[in-house]
Amino acid sequence: MSSLFLLLFLTPASMLEFRYHTNQEMEQYLLQVNASNPDITHLYSIGQSVLGRELWVLALSVRPRSHTVSIPEFKYVANMHGNEVVGRELMLQLVDDLVRGYRNNESWSTQLLNSSRIHILPTMNPDGFDVADTHCQFSQGRWNHNSVDLNRNFPDAFIGLRKQQQLNEDKREAEVRAVMDWLKTESFVLSANLHGGALVANYPYDNSNGGSELMGGASVTPDNDVFVHLAKVYSHNHASMHQGNVCQDSRPFLDGITNGYQWYPLPGGMQDYNYIWAQCLELTLEVSCCKFPPADQLPVLWTDNRKSLLAFMKQVHLGVKGRVFDGSGVPVQNAVVEVKGRRNLCPFRTDRHGEYYRLLLPGNYSFTVTYPGHEVLTATLNVPYGPDQFSAMKHDFLLQRIATTTDKTPMNATPTCNHTLQQVGGATVGPTWSGSAVGLSLVAMLRTLMD
Ligand SMILES: *[C@@H]1O[C@H](CO)[C@@H](O)[C@H](O)[C@H]1NC(C)=O
Ligand SMILES: *[C@@H]1O[C@H](CO)[C@@H](O)[C@H](O)[C@H]1NC(C)=O
Ligand SMILES: *[C@@H]1O[C@H](CO)[C@@H](O)[C@H](O)[C@H]1NC(C)=O
Ligand SMILES: *[C@@H]1O[C@H](CO)[C@@H](O)[C@H](O)[C@H]1NC(C)=O
Ligand SMILES: *[C@@H]1O[C@H](CO)[C@@H](O)[C@H](O)[C@H]1NC(C)=O
Ligand SMILES: [Zn+2]
Repeated sequence: MSSLFLLLFLTPASMLEFRYHTNQEMEQYLLQVNASNPDITHLYSIGQSVLGRELWVLALSVRPRSHTVSIPEFKYVANMHGNEVVGRELMLQLVDDLVRGYRNNESWSTQLLNSSRIHILPTMNPDGFDVADTHCQFSQGRWNHNSVDLNRNFPDAFIGLRKQQQLNEDKREAEVRAVMDWLKTESFVLSANLHGGALVANYPYDNSNGGSELMGGASVTPDNDVFVHLAKVYSHNHASMHQGNVCQDSRPFLDGITNGYQWYPLPGGMQDYNYIWAQCLELTLEVSCCKFPPADQLPVLWTDNRKSLLAFMKQVHLGVKGRVFDGSGVPVQNAVVEVKGRRNLCPFRTDRHGEYYRLLLPGNYSFTVTYPGHEVLTATLNVPYGPDQFSAMKHDFLLQRIATTTDKTPMNATPTCNHTLQQVGGATVGPTWSGSAVGLSLVAMLRTLMD
């Protein structure tokens, strides 16, 4: 009797098996989860792979179907290299875990789903997965069906304008285009991209053009303190990643983290694109020494990574969030919200809901908000540690219309940043650049390009 009870206890009917799921099985699983949990899940496709497979994303939240003001959007992307398969199964286990936790009213799940919207793309490269070799280090299946490495196929801010024009938009692979379009439909705040073949949390930049971002062999972002913190949250919550020397034939990583460029320079990567162009802070997580380990290692790999995956998602609540309202009290899109001392290559802007999210470690920060026809607004905010409360600090900015009669707004009031502005870093981004001169300097950068 007691052994029967134990058996039932250990293998509840809903438990997802630890094994590799084919693309079709994965799709069936996601459809089933979506169908049986309409209150907290929303399954959608962001496009198709080269061979026409749907790129399914499962969104989990108490309001899963659309964005809610003040609820940050988070994402995990796995298996962009088709033969790096552990992340893909971790994502299915994570879905299973979150749904079950929510159904059991466990606070770690209910609080996450109540306070954020989590999007999971278990495979970005289903075609590569289908032809993947099970070798630990080999590359068979890494690329998409057109033999392109998807983590080298994004627009790269550090590649010169001329070279960038040669790599015209048509050269973007279907899977990359799908992710780029996805980034336009949701304002993601925090993200991670799961890989295998090493055990390290890797943070931007992955590339550099030798400009002022290059410091001591690393390509350093203006948000380096936040990135190092985020990477440590993953590595220190992981069973062994923080040791930094677990995999054979790998260089040791202090604290189990590394700047991407310092490890090896990489053009066209997804994490730099997310950060520079979509103001989404993304890490590249290498979650297993072996790219395609035997299936019987999956339970241990899940146990090793579970706490990290959950802790990392909570970090979406770092810093400050809020809306920017114009002189008549309407939330405005494209207001520039800058933090002094953080000269982002593309200034962070409010989205179509008039919202901004700014991940910051606890401390005092000086904010500057710029919007055409309105006075520049500055404020110093004392930012607490949000993850413990499952909410970033809330702060709205109420702008005042410029009293003068002219409608003309100086060009530097709203610096632009788009794909025609590629030559960043380098001499135009000097270390003496002051936070308040960001707009002017972007104009200067644009001018440099036209010379
Ligand atoms: C997900 O489930 C909902 C509710 O049952 C359903 O309306 C929707 O069509 C499902 N989505 C997919 C992609 O099957
Ligand atoms: C869920 O748990 C919370 C405490 O964490 C409790 O207040 C609430 O009543 C529980 N809800 C249900 C339906 O059990
Ligand atoms: C859900 O979030 C709201 C704020 O968005 C909060 O007031 C409420 O207490 C939260 N409920 C749970 C169960 O965490
Ligand atoms: C931030 O400013 C407040 C006063 O507004 C001060 O009490 C506090 O010590 C400051 N914190 C830091 C980390 O500088
Ligand atoms: C990019 O910026 C330039 C210069 O501000 C502008 O002329 C162009 O229309 C912008 N393109 C897009 C796609 O936003
Ligand atoms: Zn990889």
